[in-house]
Amino acid sequence: MDQVSQIREKIDIVSFISEFIALKKAGRNFKANCPFHGEKTPSFVVSPERQIWHCFGCGKGGDVYTFLMEYEKLEFAEALRLLAKRTGIELISQKGNSIASSKKEKLYEVNSFAKEFYHFVLTKHKAGEKAREYLTKRGVTAKVIEAFMLGFAPHAGTALVKYLISKKHYAKEDLLDAGLAFMGRSGLMDFFRGRLMFPLFDHRDNVVGFAGRVLDGDVPSKYINTRETLIYHKGEHVFGLNVTKDAIRREKQVILVEGEFDVLSCFENGIGNVVAVKGTALTENQVNLLSRFVSKITFCFDGDKAGQEAIKRSLSVVEKKGLTPTVIVIPDGKDPDEALKIEPGVFKKAVKEDLGVYDYLLQKLLAENSTEAVEGKKNIVSEFLSFISSVQNEVVKEHYLRKLSKEVETSYESIAKELQRISERQGMVPEQTAVKSKIKRSREEALEEYLLALIVQNEKPKAALQKAVLVIAESLSKERSYQKILYHLLEQIEKEQPLGAGLPEELLSSFNTAVLFPLPVFEDQEKVLIEIEKVAKQLRRFYIKKKMKDIALAIKAASNTVETEEREVEASNVAEIKKLEELRTQYSALAAQLEAI
Ligand code: UTP
Ligand code: MN
Repeated sequence: MDQVSQIREKIDIVSFISEFIALKKAGRNFKANCPFHGEKTPSFVVSPERQIWHCFGCGKGGDVYTFLMEYEKLEFAEALRLLAKRTGIELISQKGNSIASSKKEKLYEVNSFAKEFYHFVLTKHKAGEKAREYLTKRGVTAKVIEAFMLGFAPHAGTALVKYLISKKHYAKEDLLDAGLAFMGRSGLMDFFRGRLMFPLFDHRDNVVGFAGRVLDGDVPSKYINTRETLIYHKGEHVFGLNVTKDAIRREKQVILVEGEFDVLSCFENGIGNVVAVKGTALTENQVNLLSRFVSKITFCFDGDKAGQEAIKRSLSVVEKKGLTPTVIVIPDGKDPDEALKIEPGVFKKAVKEDLGVYDYLLQKLLAENSTEAVEGKKNIVSEFLSFISSVQNEVVKEHYLRKLSKEVETSYESIAKELQRISERQGMVPEQTAVKSKIKRSREEALEEYLLALIVQNEKPKAALQKAVLVIAESLSKERSYQKILYHLLEQIEKEQPLGAGLPEELLSSFNTAVLFPLPVFEDQEKVLIEIEKVAKQLRRFYIKKKMKDIALAIKAASNTVETEEREVEASNVAEIKKLEELRTQYSALAAQLEAI
């Protein structure tokens, strides 16, 4: 056995995937909402028997490797290494050497050294003195500096470059590729200079990049961030998660703030379930990331216009993922950091009293517009509806439509009509169309797949199979893979082999689909058998009708020849007539069969 399979054998896919998402038992399989596309009814299925997974919504599927690659956005080699480590198997490349680490891993590594370097400068070196004073002034304690591994990039333009190249023996390219250096007129230069450094970690605790803040006040580029690299993509990460994820899980809520200092202040004040989006609207990637930990996202953006706009722009992604959005209204000061400096108690109280986002938006609109004048009403309605249109849950939607209707004294019907208009104009597409379109199949094929699923997922596949075969055996041909599978199953059951054993390669994917196919829940075995019989009968009808159609065509063809040749009584004609009669008998026999089902 090769190492890839050896490692796969050692990992149970159900417990493995359970470490990432909550799986629910469903018959012989496990189900969940798919982590790879937005959905609210589970179509992601894992089979413990086959050790595979598949999503019937987006079409993705595979084994432990593909799951890990998909979930953690890894290349195969990275996934292989992680799983090898987990199983304690040492990877040997074909040449007998240990597999060299990938470029990505090299960049994580060099970033990690940079983080250590900056942190050392901030906490121990003379060059970090100003930065230490600055942090003290802003109330950032040693505990916070350690927790978030803050650092300082010295003013001298090559300190990091020298350290990484002469002490750590990295190549110039590695520094350039990590975005830590750039090519200046006199050679390689540090990218961050004279800045307070905030390392940015991914959820696996790799350092993917940095944000650097100047020490002196508000200059145009107060913060700069690592440029796009192989491992740093703007809008994919959030600041602080590496420190705060346990608190986020515990509180079942994540508080989203705009800036790094907001995270630090919250953390210092005992509000641990917080991350920063770094001054932009929330992206789909960030929502996907956070949805691993919580189902409630609480915005605590700056009270200014930009912050409010960012909340509005973030809403639809939160809705799409089916998470609950709430808002903390900052009582005093422009951002959480300031509010906590002014009056920590008041801010903490506001945190406890987070509002539903839509209640908050409606309140704001009502405060900003008069409901007396028609113009004001119109504003409130059209603004509010543009947010409500992305709400997925119909109950929630109707709740707010009724509330709005009451507040602006306009009938519910008018409001609903207006919403319809706005949704059309915004071109809201229903969830399904966003999903990769499924392959179109005939009703017949869909039934075949369903029947096969009912059989292979049954607690007593033998009984289930016999039930089905009793009904369809006569009409069964061996044309399609599903039918071939049924024959194989019959054989396997006869020989008392495990289902799926020895199935030819080309039938495996159909078989796996049947094993994973999400079935409805049946009360008991008897109900399943009734369903099997019902489906088998439907299929049999299909088959018979198809045969009858073929025969009808043959009859038509045959009677044409008989008619044209009738006058010339020839021997061949007798045979034709006989054939015609035979066809007619076959046809009525099938019709009788059909009647009897
Ligand atoms: P703000 O301009 O609101 O800064 O930007 P702030 O949080 O109050 O910063 P401090 O408290 O003065 O240090 C909010 C966030 O937007 C990102 C940073 O993450 C910042 O914390 N930002 C801001 C940038 O990435 N680049 C910038 O030039 C400015
Ligand atoms: Mn601030």
